[in-house]
Amino acid sequence: MADLRSTFIGIKSPNPFWLASAPPTDKEYNVRRAFQAGWGGVVWKTLGSEGPPVVNVNGPRYGVIYGADRRVLGINNIELITDRPLEVNLREIKSVKRDYPDRALIISLMVPCDEDSWRDILARIEDTEADGVELNFGCPHGMAERGMGSAVGQVPEYIEMVTRWVKKHSRMPCIVKLTPNISDVRKPAEAAKRGGADAVSLINTINSITSVDLDLFAPQPTIDGKGSHGGYCGPAVKPIALNMVAEIARHPETAGLPISGIGGITTWRDAAEFMALGAGNVQVCTAAMTYGFKVVQEMITGLHDYLDSHQMELSDLIGRATPNVTDWQQLNLNYVTKAVIDQDACISCGRCYAACEDTSHQAIAMKPGRIFEVIEEECVACNLCVDVCPVEDCITMRELELGEIDKRTGLPRAGYANWTQHPNNPMAKAAE
Ligand SMILES: Cc1cc2nc3c(=O)[nH]c(=O)nc-3n(C[C@H](O)[C@H](O)[C@H](O)COP(=O)(O)O)c2cc1C
Ligand code: SF4
Ligand code: SF4
Repeated sequence: MADLRSTFIGIKSPNPFWLASAPPTDKEYNVRRAFQAGWGGVVWKTLGSEGPPVVNVNGPRYGVIYGADRRVLGINNIELITDRPLEVNLREIKSVKRDYPDRALIISLMVPCDEDSWRDILARIEDTEADGVELNFGCPHGMAERGMGSAVGQVPEYIEMVTRWVKKHSRMPCIVKLTPNISDVRKPAEAAKRGGADAVSLINTINSITSVDLDLFAPQPTIDGKGSHGGYCGPAVKPIALNMVAEIARHPETAGLPISGIGGITTWRDAAEFMALGAGNVQVCTAAMTYGFKVVQEMITGLHDYLDSHQMELSDLIGRATPNVTDWQQLNLNYVTKAVIDQDACISCGRCYAACEDTSHQAIAMKPGRIFEVIEEECVACNLCVDVCPVEDCITMRELELGEIDKRTGLPRAGYANWTQHPNNPMAKAAE
């Protein structure tokens, strides 16, 4: 059986599944139960400076986007960092770590952007025996207006400066948590690396308004008739997070910088995808908030089964897909496929026909008796019919053999050539 034990920037955990800094890791009671359920590690809910704790709203703090079956697809939150006193959190962290020495316990931090504040908090957390710190440069609401969270995470110079302070005043491994609310995520990642970060984690939540109450005319969640933007997470953000992880993993300036992948991870498969794109481990929040701590058990068994069936170790998976992420102009323009409908599986719903006829290339014919057939002479292989067909694998894409005639163009399928070599590209380099 594949060994799921993980070592991330020197921090050991029995598996690569950590809970992200958020309500699931807010207190000792939760974290003990999470460890009992099998989580390999946790990033404790973000701590702030000594002094009066932050104050949360007392009305609804979440807005939700549902799928058709009321499955939670995305959550928007307006919660702040921990609203419990610093010394209570530190006492609890020490107690949990003492009882679970084999689990990773990272402390998330967000304090004002001055060296004294960072030195003071680092001194306070040193004796908890925690395994590392994560710098929360991502929170997009409430704290950003106070010059913290994403207000720091959006300015690479600040990230570098604060990371340097942290490395100067602490010997702990340091993970910099990045905000996705930025145009090019590689810049803050580069800055974290320059500042001496041991790793980056991403993504934190995405600025959002999930919905508007059309009676109150206010964003939801609504607090006494008003709403504010919040942070979006859950399955809906996974594609954005995967892209950002891949961007950092393949960027020459940041390649090799360890990444903790976060964003919409709900199943072992989601986790495996993040790791294949270069994440050394993963963190989870919404899935635990939706399904409870035991959701990790499916992740563990699923990843075991996958690795075993592919005769791979965890280390073989990490970064395995990174070399296959490329830029559009490197894609093979001579790769040709055609849609094929399995008539035995087809339920004659006509969705493929409507989609292709109205919005694609008029490449599906509707014959008497509601028989749907692909017209290869018109099919550009866009895949839309596959995407909208309600029957899995009813429509598949067949790859043409080399030399086989593409009935649309009348040309034989040729070998690899990309846009940089294409005759229609005015900038084309001569093909070799
Ligand atoms: C209610 C809530 C509170 C959160 N609080 C924090 C926080 O205090 N510190 C932090 O770094 N991230 C916080 N996050 C962000 C999560 O750690 C995580 O980055 C984000 O939810 C994406 O992961 P997910 O899609 O698995 O939820 C919070 C998320 C939620 C939903
Ligand atoms: S792949 Fe695109 S063009 Fe071809 S049949 Fe399907 S929808 Fe039409
Ligand atoms: S969408 Fe799928 S099931 Fe519906 S008609 Fe097309 S091939 Fe058949």
